[in-house]
Amino acid sequence: MNTRTALITGASDGIGMELARVMARDGWRLILVARREDRLHALAAELAPAQVHVIALDLSLENAAQKLFETLVEQGLQIDALVNNAGLGDHDLFWKGDPTRIRAMLRVNMEALTELSRLLLPDMIERAHGFIVNIASVASFQPGPLMAVYYATKAYVLSLTEALAIELRSTGVSATAICPGPTRSGFQAVAGTDKAPGMSGSRIPDSREVAVFTYRTMLRRKTVAVHGIAFRVLVFVERFLPRSTVARLVGRFQSVRST
Ligand SMILES: NC(=O)c1ccc[n+]([C@@H]2O[C@H](COP(=O)([O-])OP(=O)(O)OC[C@H]3O[C@@H](n4cnc5c(N)ncnc54)[C@H](OP(=O)(O)O)[C@@H]3O)[C@@H](O)[C@H]2O)c1
Repeated sequence: MNTRTALITGASDGIGMELARVMARDGWRLILVARREDRLHALAAELAPAQVHVIALDLSLENAAQKLFETLVEQGLQIDALVNNAGLGDHDLFWKGDPTRIRAMLRVNMEALTELSRLLLPDMIERAHGFIVNIASVASFQPGPLMAVYYATKAYVLSLTEALAIELRSTGVSATAICPGPTRSGFQAVAGTDKAPGMSGSRIPDSREVAVFTYRTMLRRKTVAVHGIAFRVLVFVERFLPRSTVARLVGRFQSVRST
């Protein structure tokens, strides 16, 4: 069997890094993308003898996805699985949020994910084989006061993936949205929620657990998968509540999460 190739964005930390470990062990050739090149090279060395290509890139820059696509073409790298994992959050009142950070969230969480999928899908469809995996969140299902932009970007990711999954029926390519709840990774330090009560608790899943869940779900070609039974119940129950009530509850939860 030919070696399959996966491109994982945000592989320098957290879920993306663990997913690289899981997929390398299962025989995938990997293309790892993030800004922190030293961490990507260290991971590539750790994963040897797996074939790993490192591409250091800031996905918040305009045309980043196009640049990445051109690099893949130049290097003759064909992608079987695209894992749009890179993402970041921010915790603040919307009108006090740093505009640069807001732009980065929009670009990394939505634009880069959308453009990369658009650029890589035609080849997958032509070969009748491929996986698009988008790391969404439990946040995709609610409005998120105090993390308003982050939640909205993740709602976009879920909506896009669900629509794409329908369009892709009978093409041999699947689209999957993974929806983790709070997960131990670098995410909380970046978003400013790392001192939140409960974040150090052992009940918070680690990135490896979510990575294994992501890989298994991808192989099953499931469209939407919420990680963790508690969050599956939560997402189900909140369908029966007024959205304004859900938004208020999320706001209350987020108000105790700031540092
Ligand atoms: N952890 C959670 O509680 C949680 C819950 C639900 C969903 N998620 C989602 O899971 C995904 C992975 O997050 P994580 O928890 O693993 O967080 P993490 O440990 O902070 O990892 C985020 C990754 O995204 C990359 N990234 C951020 N900005 C980037 C940019 N401008 N250009 C290129 N890469 C960039 C980072 O690499 P560099 O900094 O090296 O660029 C890093 O590798 C995200 O989409 C996040 O929204 C996380």
